[in-house]
Amino acid sequence: MKTMEWKDNKLILIDQTKLPDELAYFTCNTYRDVIVAIKTMVVRGAPAIGVAAAFAMALAYLRDENLEKVANEIKSSRPTAINLFWAVDRVLASNNPVEEALTMYEEDIETNLAIGRYGSEIILDGDVILTHCNAGALACVDYGTALGVVRSAFHQGKDINVVCDETRPLGQGARLSVWEMQKENIPVKLIPDVASGYLMQQGKIDKVIIGADRVANDGIANKIGSLMVALAAKRFHVPFYVAAPLSTFDFDISIYSTEIEERGPEEVTHYGGSRICPKGTEVINPAFDIVPSDLIAGIISEKGIINPEKFKEFFQKLI
Ligand code: MRU
Repeated sequence: MKTMEWKDNKLILIDQTKLPDELAYFTCNTYRDVIVAIKTMVVRGAPAIGVAAAFAMALAYLRDENLEKVANEIKSSRPTAINLFWAVDRVLASNNPVEEALTMYEEDIETNLAIGRYGSEIILDGDVILTHCNAGALACVDYGTALGVVRSAFHQGKDINVVCDETRPLGQGARLSVWEMQKENIPVKLIPDVASGYLMQQGKIDKVIIGADRVANDGIANKIGSLMVALAAKRFHVPFYVAAPLSTFDFDISIYSTEIEERGPEEVTHYGGSRICPKGTEVINPAFDIVPSDLIAGIISEKGIINPEKFKEFFQKLI
């Protein structure tokens, strides 16, 4: 299942706001359509946002737009996932934006397959794996990062069960991760966000695997709620893994300087279209939080599993 397709010089996206009830598509004829899709979360998830942004640059190039100006507009669509900035800069530096975006599209799939292969090595027969938000095929071009690890282990014949946090306020776990798992008959159960600590205390979770919007030397940024899951995992000795491509890594910053997106109040005041609190209630709605390195057992990348406390050694070996 591909989250996006480049066809006849247009970008066609699965409209993730309509899932799980309807598999609808959103066609982008211009780079501005892609910006709308990113802002409204028709397309979301760090790697998917990155590749969609690359195609936005390609659309602008085909219409002879000023690419420097367009790059800045695209970069202002969502602030937290570093893949967006990485992708726009990579296309800007290339000679042929369309070719470059298509290369990034293919690379994303290869990268996720490699993450899946490395990650599956830590998955044991009988494991129950908790995941938060959606770091699946829908968050990438295909296959997924955290759910790519799950897919890989499942296709190797391992007997695994997945537990998805619902991921309030927008329900990426309930709407998207559960949908993806059910489509492939991977055993899955949905829990309210508030239940993960209890399940870990009861010894009912063997591993946590989540994705990331940014990875730095001192931690990662991911969907709001990741920090609470990581704290509970540490307390109850459940290994907490992060699956992310190297394009999500940013070693120039402390993770605490990441801009955390603040989204609109209606995501919190309303549920399924109905208001769930008194009219006029003030809201705080950060979309991401930060998990410090000491809570992370390993980062599963396309080059292997990295101990977050030993980043430098790992990258020195790669050079
Ligand atoms: O707000 P979203 O849905 O774009 O947030 C997505 C996440 O936080 C994902 O876990 C993250 O981008 C990793 S996706 C492989």
